[in-house]
Amino acid sequence: MNLPRTRVLSGIQSSGEKHLGNYFGAIQQHIELQHEFPGECFYFIADFHALTTVHDAAAMREGVVEVARSYLALGLNPDKALLFRQSDVPEVTELAWLLATVTGTGLLERGHSFKEKVAQGLKPSVGLFLYPVLMAADILVYGSTTVPVGKDQIQHVEMAQDMATHFNQTHCAGEPILRRPEWRLSQTPYVAGLDGRKMSSSYGNTLPLFASGKPLRKMIAAVATDSTPLGQPLDPDKCTVFRLLSLFLQPDELERVGGWYRAGKRDGQPFGYGHAKQLLAERYEAHFAAARARREELVANPQQVEDVLTRSAARARAVARDTLDRCRQACGLR
Ligand code: AMP
Ligand code: TRP
Repeated sequence: MNLPRTRVLSGIQSSGEKHLGNYFGAIQQHIELQHEFPGECFYFIADFHALTTVHDAAAMREGVVEVARSYLALGLNPDKALLFRQSDVPEVTELAWLLATVTGTGLLERGHSFKEKVAQGLKPSVGLFLYPVLMAADILVYGSTTVPVGKDQIQHVEMAQDMATHFNQTHCAGEPILRRPEWRLSQTPYVAGLDGRKMSSSYGNTLPLFASGKPLRKMIAAVATDSTPLGQPLDPDKCTVFRLLSLFLQPDELERVGGWYRAGKRDGQPFGYGHAKQLLAERYEAHFAAARARREELVANPQQVEDVLTRSAARARAVARDTLDRCRQACGLR
């Protein structure tokens, strides 16, 4: 099979509601890339990976569908990009085994994400330990060249580079089969959460993408700020609300709001964190209003979502089959 010069691939876990960090760190650039590389963007919902934390069948099914709906609502065009379930391409698990046999345990022991999850109290299953091997298989099985992700995933893509090299050196004398992937960061590879730490479902500090109205205002009201009284000068660079606002405002507008912070005043009136939070809630709602409406339509049309997932999986699977066949042959398997 002839591989294109550029193939874009990324995965997103199906566990938990997608949040603002996922959007600005990953999803937004996934959707933009479909215009730059039409037909060559492969996006999948990482349900096999989610099994390391989700052990409830109904939650698993709903999680997958919710991620699919979110991508479609936010603008993924299924004529330009594939969107499929990871588990609909079982070839990845077989390639993961082939990769595991050429990967040293030391490489996995150095994994930041593994160490961090264990430190958070997650029971370290073998699956969690092998997480980067499965992720490498996801990337390598499609001949991916470009992997758009947030900062936290860079090390995993580097591990995939190492595994491709090890496999090629061990099994493919002279003629490498697995291509070297490169990571690609979005313009905002790190989004802070409500408490100022990295926004993450495991810290419970997220803003869900489709939140609106009173619940959204309540969450934004909970963003941690210091206790400077209303009307006193504030430092925008130390403020999580301001950092979040920077995702939604144009540079000139942001500059103006920065001025209000530093003065503690807006048009002669006192300006404080409460006003900044109100502005953030308004902009947030407006930014996702159209996507929220499209998502509601998809909730009412589950078949439409299912059709996209099924059609995309068939195309992805053909590519994966071809790579796996060549890898099996190189290892001396039938
Ligand atoms: P996950 O939901 O963990 O599968 O993450 C999906 C994508 O969102 C990955 O590419 C992550 O790097 C990215 N991501 C997750 N949290 C954040 C964050 N707080 N800031 C920026 N990117 C993030
Ligand atoms: N580990 C990624 C995350 O948590 C999800 C993922 C699985 C992925 N397989 C991938 C991302 C392959 C990019 C490429 O965000």
